[in-house]
Amino acid sequence: MSNAKALPVPPSGAAADWTIPQDWRRYTPAEHAMWDTLFERQSKMLAGRVSPTFLQGLDVLRMSKPGIPDFDELSERLHKLTGWTVVAVPGLVPDEDFFRHLANRTFVAGRFIRTPEQTDYLKEPDIFHDVFGHVPLLANPVFADYMQAYGEGGLRSLGLGAIHRLARLYWYTVEFGLIREDGDLRLYGAGIVSSYGESIFALDDPSPHRIRLDLKRAMRTRYEIDDYQRTYFVIDSYEDLLRQTLETDFAPLYAELNACADLPVDAILPEDDVITRGTQAYAGAMVAAPKIKSAPPIEAHL
Ligand code: PHE
Ligand code: FE
Repeated sequence: MSNAKALPVPPSGAAADWTIPQDWRRYTPAEHAMWDTLFERQSKMLAGRVSPTFLQGLDVLRMSKPGIPDFDELSERLHKLTGWTVVAVPGLVPDEDFFRHLANRTFVAGRFIRTPEQTDYLKEPDIFHDVFGHVPLLANPVFADYMQAYGEGGLRSLGLGAIHRLARLYWYTVEFGLIREDGDLRLYGAGIVSSYGESIFALDDPSPHRIRLDLKRAMRTRYEIDDYQRTYFVIDSYEDLLRQTLETDFAPLYAELNACADLPVDAILPEDDVITRGTQAYAGAMVAAPKIKSAPPIEAHL
């Protein structure tokens, strides 16, 4: 959950920092059942595909408990592990507020859950995307530090006019990242792990490119918000992601990037460390037969 096109001031009922009570008692049995359906389907799908760190997070946070998680209970566990808390917001929040929350180790989440008709796709991130997708990795101390550093970097990027660069890094790591662990590619991005279709596509489909993450390369690359990604970036480890982002001063990178053209979603550069060169057949089929696209398969995020 975050940013883009948000109102400049919090709606009535929200605090100055945009948070609202989760009102956990107001969820209906049907809403809890929707969570359970999604949880069960996704947990099965992710076995053997997701980063073990994600599964450890689900486990230590006791997220398999039936029903929509109560943020107070979840935050109590999470805070003991990494100092993060989860709070509810009414919808998209302005960039600056989103970054400030991350910098303070607060993860803002939508409190509504999708309807059964939206089981496979919805445009706005709901509580399943935000909580199932994002929160398990926040139980990992390294990833928890990365998210905080990202928030601090985001606040800095506002003053440097580079927020869209940093948004791309979030997209290609936090939302759609892959990781290579013990020689195998695994999922970790929240936009993938909360999506039934994309959890297969991102790992197994011959269509997308899979390229080793380079910070500058990712920040040059456009992204698609309403379909599967054409390119996924792969990290070596969470430690490496954190180290690279902390050790790199982004200000000169932003300046260099202003002199480079943006890259299309399916670009391959000579200097890329390509893990899989995709056929891009999926995207090609969309152009040839656009009606297939009537039910866009991924969830919206960032
Ligand atoms: N090191 C980055 C900067 O100089 C901050 C940052 C940290 C950005 C982690 C993203 C992730 O702005
Ligand atoms: Fe998200």
